[in-house]
Amino acid sequence: MEVIIQPTREAAALLTAKVIADEVRKNPSAVLGLATGATVEPVYANLIEMHHKEGLDFSLCKSFNLDEYVGLSGDHPGSYRYFMNSHLFDHINIDKRNTRVPNGMASDLAAECLTYEEAIWHAGGIDLQLVGIGMDGHIGFNEPMSSLQSRTRVKQLNPVTIRQNAGYFGGADKMPRRAITMGVGTILDSQRCVLLATGSAKAEILAEAIEGPFCARVTASALQWHRRAVVIVDEACAANLKNREYYDWSFAHEPEWAPFRG
Ligand code: F6R
Repeated sequence: MEVIIQPTREAAALLTAKVIADEVRKNPSAVLGLATGATVEPVYANLIEMHHKEGLDFSLCKSFNLDEYVGLSGDHPGSYRYFMNSHLFDHINIDKRNTRVPNGMASDLAAECLTYEEAIWHAGGIDLQLVGIGMDGHIGFNEPMSSLQSRTRVKQLNPVTIRQNAGYFGGADKMPRRAITMGVGTILDSQRCVLLATGSAKAEILAEAIEGPFCARVTASALQWHRRAVVIVDEACAANLKNREYYDWSFAHEPEWAPFRG
């Protein structure tokens, strides 16, 4: 796992977008794993700009989103399909038929989860997975004590997560209680994983996830086990990290990162 600390939230989001853009340029038919939420909004804004100004081409890409609320259709403004269309897909040249978000309205949710896993497999697996971290340390909606080998399935949301996302629904009482989420094991199967975390509110849980023990209580800690994970944070979110000197040294000297240094 590599850790890159950027001065601001904007710089962290821009670097994340550059990593995704680099993947798409090197592999035009890349299979992208995508996340939703406030943290990744500026990443998508940067990708849209790169598409318009630099011709970043998504026409051959496929995408799979991490999660979707159970009971919400894609035209519900709180749904993750709606989020993805409005924050990214409607503004780039990806073929929407190649974008998958779990179907939260499926009559047979277990079958939907199985089909989702199979679709990822048929696409050849995820080349680059973008994730955020929840206030409870989740990735996707893998709430505390999720199996670290889990696959796509339905999870009960943690009250911490319900409070975190209640604002999107005008109150916790209006929020769905369950979601379909890729499993931790599904995320670990990706070839590359980028975790973006910003803001002081996540400093404590972020430090637990990346410098604490590998444990199901904080499912983001599973990324310590990932073959090729990079964690991109801003200064505010890096506040509790202990190995800061090494992270900065490594980013400054690692040849792979040379094109990404400012
Ligand atoms: C969203 C997802 C979640 C979020 C996390 C952070 O698809 O899977 O794990 O990434 O809850 O959300 P924000 O960025 O809104 O703080």
